[in-house]
Amino acid sequence: MKPGMKLIKHFLQFKDFRAEEYAYLFERATTIKRRFKNYEKHQPLVDRTLAMIFEKASTRTRVSFEAGMYQMGGSVVNLTTGDSQLGRSEPVEDSARVIGRMVDIVMIRTFEQAKIEAFAAHSRVPVINGLTNEYHPCQILADVFTFIEHRGSIQGKVVAWVGDGNNMANTWLQAADVLGFTLHVSTPGGYEIDAKVAGVANSDCVKTFNHPLDACEGAHLVTTDVWTSMGYEAENEARMKAFVDWCVDRDMMAAARPDALFMHCLPAHRGEEVEAEVIDGPQSVVWDEAENRMHVQKALMEYLLLGRIG
Ligand code: CP
Ligand code: NVA
Repeated sequence: MKPGMKLIKHFLQFKDFRAEEYAYLFERATTIKRRFKNYEKHQPLVDRTLAMIFEKASTRTRVSFEAGMYQMGGSVVNLTTGDSQLGRSEPVEDSARVIGRMVDIVMIRTFEQAKIEAFAAHSRVPVINGLTNEYHPCQILADVFTFIEHRGSIQGKVVAWVGDGNNMANTWLQAADVLGFTLHVSTPGGYEIDAKVAGVANSDCVKTFNHPLDACEGAHLVTTDVWTSMGYEAENEARMKAFVDWCVDRDMMAAARPDALFMHCLPAHRGEEVEAEVIDGPQSVVWDEAENRMHVQKALMEYLLLGRIG
């Protein structure tokens, strides 16, 4: 780093923050959510601008960041690969240097984590990971917040991951490491979590199971995701066959604790990774989970731009 340059805080992986920073963010998100529900103005980011870069499709990430930034008094610029020079081979480092001179904070959804890391290394403003092939930290921020709202602290609890060893699974594993809970993981052979990619310090926080039903045994939360993530469409046919037994069904929910919650980051495919009776059933909190993206990300943007309040 050049002398005199300010150290910029980014949110590129879940392990970028410590447990006590998460405690602050969850507390702050509770306040921000309460104000939103009461129609109280909360505008700490007047005159601040968020740039959102989408190289993959999105509904929740787009709406939650855009609505959240406007609610906080700021404004938003939306870029996609197709309508910017990013799609015409402008180096990511140059894009970062330019965009950071005009806006205050950047959210990026892209393919390789290396790309967002390169952007952040050349950005003079905070960068948030809105999903990469490897991680989806904003989603797990919302998921843990949702768990806490419904069941209290997640520390010491058991979360069952059923399905692909993908960006969501890697991030759950980092969260287990940082926040002190256990992740039960069951993936089909060949689709395991890559411990090196997840990059956790304490591998004691993960237990792997061949059978998904065993992973759900005694879990406080059962969660899954699509069989084929964005960017992996060419593998779809093979994945449809490999994942057929990794559908969260009523038997798996019955193996979990009686008060277990079900979560899914969405979009979901009923009849593939989850039975309709589970995602639309009484243990499912997927709509709270989606809404909470906005509340936690408002707390996150406020924290990255203004630090701790109060
Ligand atoms: N869960 C999530 O990130 O949804 P989108 O792909 O719609 O943004
Ligand atoms: N694992 C999924 C999550 C979508 C929000 C994907 O990367 O497509």
